[in-house]
Amino acid sequence: MRHFNIALIPGDGIGPEVVAEGVNVLKAIEELDSGLTFSFTAFPWGCEYYLEHGRMMEEDGIDKLRKFDAIYLGAVGYPGVPDHISLRELLLRIRKTFDQYVNLRPISLLDPSLTPLKDKTEKDIDMLVIRENSEGEYAGAGDRLFKGNPEEVVLQTGVFSRKGTDRIIRYAYEEARRSNRTLTSISKGNALNYSMVFWDEVFEEIGKEYPDVTTYSYLVDAASLYFVTDPERFEVVVTSNLFGDIVTDIGAGITGGLGLATGANIHPEKKYPSMFEPVHGSAPDIAGKGMANPIAAIWSVSQMLDFFGEEKWGQAVLDTIKEMIGETEYLTPDLEGNAATSEVGDQFVKKLSKKQK
Ligand code: NAD
Ligand code: IPM
Ligand code: MN
Repeated sequence: MRHFNIALIPGDGIGPEVVAEGVNVLKAIEELDSGLTFSFTAFPWGCEYYLEHGRMMEEDGIDKLRKFDAIYLGAVGYPGVPDHISLRELLLRIRKTFDQYVNLRPISLLDPSLTPLKDKTEKDIDMLVIRENSEGEYAGAGDRLFKGNPEEVVLQTGVFSRKGTDRIIRYAYEEARRSNRTLTSISKGNALNYSMVFWDEVFEEIGKEYPDVTTYSYLVDAASLYFVTDPERFEVVVTSNLFGDIVTDIGAGITGGLGLATGANIHPEKKYPSMFEPVHGSAPDIAGKGMANPIAAIWSVSQMLDFFGEEKWGQAVLDTIKEMIGETEYLTPDLEGNAATSEVGDQFVKKLSKKQK
């Protein structure tokens, strides 16, 4: 029997709405596979919890999460609690504490109808962005001096350690080699004369060990242009925390929007749990209306299954997502459909179950 313990952090806004559908998919898989079971433990952390308790998670929240095989998270952040508190004390805290230094964000066009780009098909937009997820511009290092004075100075320091930079770039080379794809580094050495010059050096040094991998290196501004003009240039991409955040939203924009964008926060050494979540946030503008697209969150379930070594199920979920895109009557308004979140989820489960029987 294969069994996996999953911690649920549905979080804020549309987070709980989409996580519920992802959990239904896992429960359906449990039914379909007699050798596979999951247990779910939900934690009520998020902005409402903060307003009640003055903190985003319980004091021993991190310890509570430690024993799980994976964390499945919806979204964090809501008007009423400053974003830098809610995000840094819950989402970013988990990524950092559990050393989830690899953020895997696939950017794949599932159907030509989904992209606003002219004449692009599935084969033109199919990349994996590997975002550094533990330090860099998100290190949280800085200071605010002479607050309120005309001389006020605010520092936000990027931290690029040798260990942190080596390991993400090496991970990306390994992935490019394994999948026989090119590797592109996105950086900004022309302006960021410490961090990004160092990044470029490490990319080149480590590349010497991978002569079989074809590499490209672009400045982030030009890379952002190419994402839109010729996305076919990119196969595996490695980049820093902030640049990865930005280019993956561009990636979402060219493949159908945030309702279809997924991300896995991986701690490869498996000493701590990894975390799976849609790329989108709590979407206060549509929260509570049953309009949220649950497919990004369901795609995170596919990534989770791959991580568990259940690739057959990971692939089955992804294949079902592709089939769903063809059926407009079961799509949410962001994809020009009229279906509610739960209708998409129910139809998804039906389709998945039918295929496996
Ligand atoms: P957002 O991703 O919540 O929303 C951006 C736009 O995309 C909105 O118009 C929203 O309606 C739409 N959208 C997002 N997900 C959708 C879905 N599944 N289906 C249909 N439409 C969807 O980004 P934002 O508005 O910049 O941020 C809102 C809050 O979420 C902020 O507090 C922010 O800090 C937080 N946030 C959290 C995460 C996370 O938890 N991982 C990620 C991004 C933003
Ligand atoms: C994401 C989000 C987070 C990030 C925010 C909410 C801190 O935008 O996961 O892309 O910047 O990493
Ligand atoms: Mn983001």
